[in-house]
Amino acid sequence: MVSALALAFYLAKTTEAEEVFVPVLNINRSELPLRGDNVFFLQKINIPESLLIFRDEIDLHALHQAGQLTLILVDHHVLPKGDAALEEAVAEVLDHRPIEHQHCPPCHVSVELVGSCATLVTERILQGAPEILDRQTAALLHGTIILDCVNMDLKVGKATPKDSKYVEKLESLFPDLPKRNDIFDSLQKAKFDVSGLTTEQMLRKDQKTISRQGTKVAISAIYMDLEICGVLERSHSPSLKLTPAPSTHPHLQAYLQGNTQVSRKKLLPLLQEALSAYFDSMKIPSGQPETEGVCREQADKELDRAGNSLVPGLSQDEEEPPLPPTPMNSLVDECPLDQGLPKLSAEVIFEKCSQISLSQSTAASLSKN
Ligand SMILES: *[C@@H]1O[C@H](CO)[C@@H](O)[C@H](O)[C@H]1NC(C)=O
Repeated sequence: MVSALALAFYLAKTTEAEEVFVPVLNINRSELPLRGDNVFFLQKINIPESLLIFRDEIDLHALHQAGQLTLILVDHHVLPKGDAALEEAVAEVLDHRPIEHQHCPPCHVSVELVGSCATLVTERILQGAPEILDRQTAALLHGTIILDCVNMDLKVGKATPKDSKYVEKLESLFPDLPKRNDIFDSLQKAKFDVSGLTTEQMLRKDQKTISRQGTKVAISAIYMDLEICGVLERSHSPSLKLTPAPSTHPHLQAYLQGNTQVSRKKLLPLLQEALSAYFDSMKIPSGQPETEGVCREQADKELDRAGNSLVPGLSQDEEEPPLPPTPMNSLVDECPLDQGLPKLSAEVIFEKCSQISLSQSTAASLSKN
């Protein structure tokens, strides 16, 4: 993203012709929140998101059909299938990855295997028109190279001599740029910060997909510990007699509970204890873990939305039915499970997780102030 912005800036400043250079970010605007490092950096450098142009806000195909489009691919060189028709508009490719020749548009290709595409853009600016480089653009390029090259760590092996050379040049031109460690730490933290994301956004973040013959497989990562599973598995008083059930999601662990006498109410103290221990070990001031109240309400709303017929608020704090528990709620006529099990999807579960972690991070930041 930064490479496209900086290159368009350079071209706009240095081209005489009446062409308009538009940096188009090849994601939809709704996907920007998934790129925490970009969101953070734009804010820090004072570039309002509203000024950016995203892929869903400009009709490249229509422009191309009208003969008004020239494309420069920056930081990638393979057009997705849906954009194959745009290939003839591609005039140049500027990338830092090994070229896949069978997919690369037939045009001028500048590819150099460096750690960051921003290094190549910096080089172009400093060789072509160093006078146009302002501090804002320099800061964007500087931070991006450092993030891509993992803080120029030689052991990680991302940074090449050229990356280091241009980071140093930027620093000598603008001595007040942030310290490398500082900008790296804040960008790295922002990149993996998922607080504030919805479930869907979390699942989409950094999602990798592969497809063959119309079958798509998507892999998402949720950066969250599953230590609670261990607590439940190991519990002896009461023992839950858990057997792992086949899960449809790699990060979703489901169990068959052999001991049906252990109701949720009896589980809560276990979970409370586990959460407290977890936060003690993380040294996060958390206050009381929120198992009642907000989360509970949200869970009920969620179940509601998922279309099940439980009456919210009625069952949770009533006396539990005598054992063995039946799904019958004494206050409604029909059995809530008559319509089948509630549609509790993996998404709903993760929504819970993100709400919980959100309320915790809010609590943590409040108590710091
Ligand atoms: C992006 O927006 C387009 C047009 O609104 C839509 O068709 C497409 O599904 C969206 N893609 C993603 C990944 O959200």
